[in-house]
Amino acid sequence: MRLKPNDTVNSRFLLKILPAFFLVSLFFLVTLSYFELNNAKKSHNQLVQEKTDNLARLLTEPVWQLSTKLSVNILKTTLDASDIICIKLEQDSDITPLIMEGECNDLSSEEVLEFNSPIIYLDLRNTSRSLGIVYLYTKNATQWSSITKQLITLTALSLTLFITLIIITSVAFRSTIITPLSRVSKSLKYYRQTGQRVPVNWDSTDELGQLISNYNRNLARQTEIEADLKEAHLKTENALSSLKEAQTNLIHSEKMASLGSLVAGIAHEINTPLGNSLTVATTVSDITRNISKDIESGALTKSALDSFIESITEASTILERNLETAAKQIRNFKNVAVDQTSEKRRKFDLKQVIDEIIYTLNPLIKHTPFDIEVSVPPDISLDSYPGPLGQIITNCFNNTLLHGFEGKSSGLIRIEANLINEKYLSLIISDNGNGMSPAECEKAFDPFFTTKLGYGGSGLGLNLVYNLTTTILGGTVDINSKINMGVTLNFKLPISAPGAHRTQGYV
Ligand SMILES: Nc1ncnc2c1ncn2[C@@H]1O[C@H](COP(=O)(O)OP(=O)(O)OP(=O)(O)O)[C@@H](O)[C@H]1O
Ligand SMILES: [Mg+2]
Repeated sequence: MRLKPNDTVNSRFLLKILPAFFLVSLFFLVTLSYFELNNAKKSHNQLVQEKTDNLARLLTEPVWQLSTKLSVNILKTTLDASDIICIKLEQDSDITPLIMEGECNDLSSEEVLEFNSPIIYLDLRNTSRSLGIVYLYTKNATQWSSITKQLITLTALSLTLFITLIIITSVAFRSTIITPLSRVSKSLKYYRQTGQRVPVNWDSTDELGQLISNYNRNLARQTEIEADLKEAHLKTENALSSLKEAQTNLIHSEKMASLGSLVAGIAHEINTPLGNSLTVATTVSDITRNISKDIESGALTKSALDSFIESITEASTILERNLETAAKQIRNFKNVAVDQTSEKRRKFDLKQVIDEIIYTLNPLIKHTPFDIEVSVPPDISLDSYPGPLGQIITNCFNNTLLHGFEGKSSGLIRIEANLINEKYLSLIISDNGNGMSPAECEKAFDPFFTTKLGYGGSGLGLNLVYNLTTTILGGTVDINSKINMGVTLNFKLPISAPGAHRTQGYV
């Protein structure tokens, strides 16, 4: 920011100091003028008085001789040669008149000053006799003219003093205060513009010098701190990217783990129809070999042929049914597995997808004392991500089996979905198992929170549930639980997931 000339420290300082200087100079001028005036008055009065005394002495002889003519001449000469306006000669003798010379009309005015001196005659015996009084009148104003010149000189001197003081003060103020301050200001401005810290070059040991050396020390300290911060920031960034990588890997392995449990279950399930089919195929092969032998030896009877056809028909039916079951299981598994590994958005029927997921999870619960109950109304159509939805249900399901039903001889998992309005649906996944303490419940969604540390738990299952729900599905989830009262997860999911990205459905 550029300062206005009026806002600079220098001008503000001068504005404050100027009136003081001015008043001091004025005070000196007035005081000196006063004394000068008094002195001038005194010396003027003294001069006029001396002149009066001299005149009195000069007039002694003519007055004694009663020479009025000479007296008048002396008075006239005195009047011509000076600034006297009127001269009066008052004689003690009755025969000689009062002599007045000059402008003696208005002598009572305040502007007229009167001086007088007695005319004393000393006779041969040295006795003094008063012959009269001589009066001299001058104008008061005439004194001003005599001191005006001095006053002008004095004013000029005061003015010079005033200006010199201002210049000296301004220069001193600049060199001791403004210059170091402006260097600090330049250093700060340079830092603002370029981000570089340049120390200020100033050598004095006064307060400002100390301030500037503190400033320089702080600059150096800030540079060090900044370098440390940069290093720490770099380390943090590296650590963060490693953490993110580790998190991605963990999430991936978490997904793969739940997929692995699906694979194990489905493999077990498919084993049954495939085993049945194999047995039937072996039986078919046996009876076919037997009938071939009968044909070769010509011992084939009609009843044997009928029984063979009947067995083959029955075997085909069994094979068909078992292979159909296996195919269905593989189809469902394929849907769920592809959904869970691809995270693709598509339009799907909620009930159908949940049924497929439950179907693939069923083998995990089939031979346990636990039950699963699903209540999803038909025809809820979603435009969302079935993979993450399946992942959420699988994780909750696994948690119930692992934690909720640990040590239990019976238990029920419930999955319930309902439309809230045309934009949202509610999905509730609950169990009636061991439940959690309030402290566990509070941390349940935190990454790496697990009560099974060292027993296969990584503490990412519910965190993944939370992240998938709130990010990719665009919904919310909260958890309610009490010890021995089971766990309930309440989801609120949008019918249409957020995000512009949309891919076509797949087979
Ligand atoms: N249905 C449940 N019943 C009781 N406790 C549960 C239930 N679900 C989760 N928990 C508790 O919450 C903790 C965190 O669950 P989460 O799924 O995040 O991690 P985990 O199951 O321990 O490990 P991972 O799922 O990563 O293998 C569990 O360790 C468990 O103590
Ligand atoms: Mg878990």
